[in-house]
Amino acid sequence: MTKKLCLVTFGCQMNVHDSQRMEDLMRAAGYDVIPEPEGADVVILNTCSVREKGEQKLRSEAGKLKSNDTVLVVAGCVAQQEGEALVKAMPFIDVVIGPDNLTDLPALVREAELGAPPSVRTVFDTDAPRFLTNPAVPGSVGASAYVTVMKGCDERCSFCIVPYTRGPERYRSADDVVAEIRALVDGGTREVMLLGQTVNSFLDPRVELPPDRDPDESQFPELLRRIAAEAPGLDRLRYTSPHPRHLTASLVRAHADLDVLSTHVHMPVQSGSDRILKRMIRRYTRAEYVRRVNALRDARAGITLSTDIIVGFPGETRDDFEATLSMVREVGFTSLYGFKYSPRPHTPALKLDDDVTEAEKQDRLLALFEVSEALTRAHLATCVGTRVELLIEGPSRPGASTFAGRTRGNEIVHIAAAPGVTAGAVVVAEVVRANKHSLEGRMESVRREAPPKVQPTFRRVALPVVSA
Ligand code: SAH
Ligand code: F3S
Repeated sequence: MTKKLCLVTFGCQMNVHDSQRMEDLMRAAGYDVIPEPEGADVVILNTCSVREKGEQKLRSEAGKLKSNDTVLVVAGCVAQQEGEALVKAMPFIDVVIGPDNLTDLPALVREAELGAPPSVRTVFDTDAPRFLTNPAVPGSVGASAYVTVMKGCDERCSFCIVPYTRGPERYRSADDVVAEIRALVDGGTREVMLLGQTVNSFLDPRVELPPDRDPDESQFPELLRRIAAEAPGLDRLRYTSPHPRHLTASLVRAHADLDVLSTHVHMPVQSGSDRILKRMIRRYTRAEYVRRVNALRDARAGITLSTDIIVGFPGETRDDFEATLSMVREVGFTSLYGFKYSPRPHTPALKLDDDVTEAEKQDRLLALFEVSEALTRAHLATCVGTRVELLIEGPSRPGASTFAGRTRGNEIVHIAAAPGVTAGAVVVAEVVRANKHSLEGRMESVRREAPPKVQPTFRRVALPVVSA
């Protein structure tokens, strides 16, 4: 009987990508994938440790799975961060595997099935970085695909555990990235999301850098230009997450020149107070951030922006928080993710006193939520009556009779089922109504038919919302 695997994914897009690659590896080793842990022979928890909540989730999920005889694998950032300690604390875990070790997964699972003691593999591949890619088998590519361009992070924002859990920055060559995208597009992929922790710091390891180069200038704009030129069948190109420091004039020019780039950019700002930005070690001021995103808007009509914000960072006063609110209004983010500061191990901010009370953090998060909801509502209202191009992602919900698609600006639009409306099709629709976080549209015509046999899009997430 074919063995069954269940993958549970927490956290960011990098984890979703890693889960997709673990799924490929395990399918190749003969496993079928099922959606729920019940009845699975192997369960993989792909974890997040950016906030403490993620770690708590792992503990409760792992606890639920401990009594049966499934092979339990813990992957992702908590695995990398805790390593051996996880097995000591939860001896029923069979495999702990870090993000750079995924190719070892099938072998470690096989050993566990044969009764081996728990194994822990969390070694960074700093000297010879490996990047797992989408299998470009026609009929198995997604309408949208994640493509990694770099991994790790050298920024060391004072609150963030990612440099510790994902290691130093390592880049793929532009040749490899372009080749992967070309193969995907040949297989039917319409949209590519380039991934990296600071995706726009990309430097091509095959290209020598001038010694006097501006440290903010990367080779990301050139990469975007190459993709546009060498994968002309690609409908949409997006990237996440950029760092504002590398939103340079050359990246702005790429947005002006390249129609394939999405008109929505997610640009984490974290705070609107210069004092807090400095304590966060973000390396820009509020004015610099605003100047850069305004340049981006001037370069390309209709660009919308979303962001990440932390409330209650150590030392954040009511005035600092008010500065954040005023910045959110000034920039006019169409959506945002808001987080309460959560002290993380191995981060410089641990030296600062976590002095904003939980109640105050909660109040600030709700106040932020109110401002951002109003901005989202106002933005969605302006979309009503416009004509948009939608990349259809699949049914609005499992079993729903309507379909959901995304505009170039990243708004979700629901339309009625109709001939030609299937995952991967690009259709033109008129927006007829705005809901709280999405739009409703009336289909007008099919612009590009769905490619044969593409997989439905990666897990569809709603427009960013404020969350705890
Ligand atoms: N560059 C990364 C950022 C990873 S963390 C990316 O690609 O998304 C994602 C977001 O989590 C950050 O932008 C920040 O807003 C939030 N975050 C990170 N560390 C945090 C902490 N200690 N407490 C609260 N929020 C945090
Ligand atoms: Fe984290 Fe800052 Fe890097 S938020 S991922 S240290 S850019």
